[in-house]
Amino acid sequence: MKIVRTAGAIREEVRAERARGSSVGLVPTMGGLHEGHLSLVRRAREENDVVVVSIFVNPLQFGPGEDLDAYPRDEERDVLLLDGAGAGIVFVPPVEEVHPEDRATTVTVGGLSEVLEGAHRPGHFDGVCTVVAKLFNLVGPERAYFGQKDAQQAAVLKRMIEDLGFPLDLVVCPIVREPDGLALSSRNAYLSASERGQAKVLFRALQAGRPLAEAGDYVAAEKEMLRVLRTEEGVAPDYAAAVDADTFGPPLPGGRVLLAVAARVGPARLIDNIDPDMEETS
Ligand code: PAF
Repeated sequence: MKIVRTAGAIREEVRAERARGSSVGLVPTMGGLHEGHLSLVRRAREENDVVVVSIFVNPLQFGPGEDLDAYPRDEERDVLLLDGAGAGIVFVPPVEEVHPEDRATTVTVGGLSEVLEGAHRPGHFDGVCTVVAKLFNLVGPERAYFGQKDAQQAAVLKRMIEDLGFPLDLVVCPIVREPDGLALSSRNAYLSASERGQAKVLFRALQAGRPLAEAGDYVAAEKEMLRVLRTEEGVAPDYAAAVDADTFGPPLPGGRVLLAVAARVGPARLIDNIDPDMEETS
């Protein structure tokens, strides 16, 4: 497995792979890797000749007062995990290799970027789209892999790919959960033992909303999810929503409905969702 740190080096490595006739899959990450990320790498390995994984804590997607400085950074551990999962090239750039100091371009996806996560984290999806567009241009993969846990991110990026005509397929992989239902997240590392126990309420809330959503009563589903989130002292809900899985607007007749929750648990802001059409693993 190769580790490269500059835009020139990643272009050159991918060019050499292409010359050998290899197909390329990209897994963008911010490090702090867990089994969820590794499931993306394994899937990418099944579907491509070579897998490029980027590790880059993207400052553009963190708002003032968010956890940019606290975000887990352990390159040595991440690299070992990636080697075991079958990554071929790891791209670990410093900030200036990705975002020039005088950067004047921001990629914005309107509409679905402005609700739920977008409403609670203004500018977040602009930061995500800008860095992912840059990574797509540096690597030029056939396929790029993202986790369903960030369902809105995946929907926003799908829209960006369609609107800007990036020549690649976006592959969304199932959420990986702990046996007790907690969705794996790099931010789970912020939780104390008691907060870890409280965090299980996010999945409980989604499960409580599910039968109501399946019966078509989305208002009742949202109320029930909020009620369940509030049963856990120390958990401060941001939202509990039933939305159309593609537009993130109100559920549409015959469309796929996604249940999504976000809450603060101690120092961590956690998100989770259930898409009844998507299988999950634990
Ligand atoms: O999901 C993430 O870890 C990040 O938002 C991503 C896609 C790597 C962009 O920085």
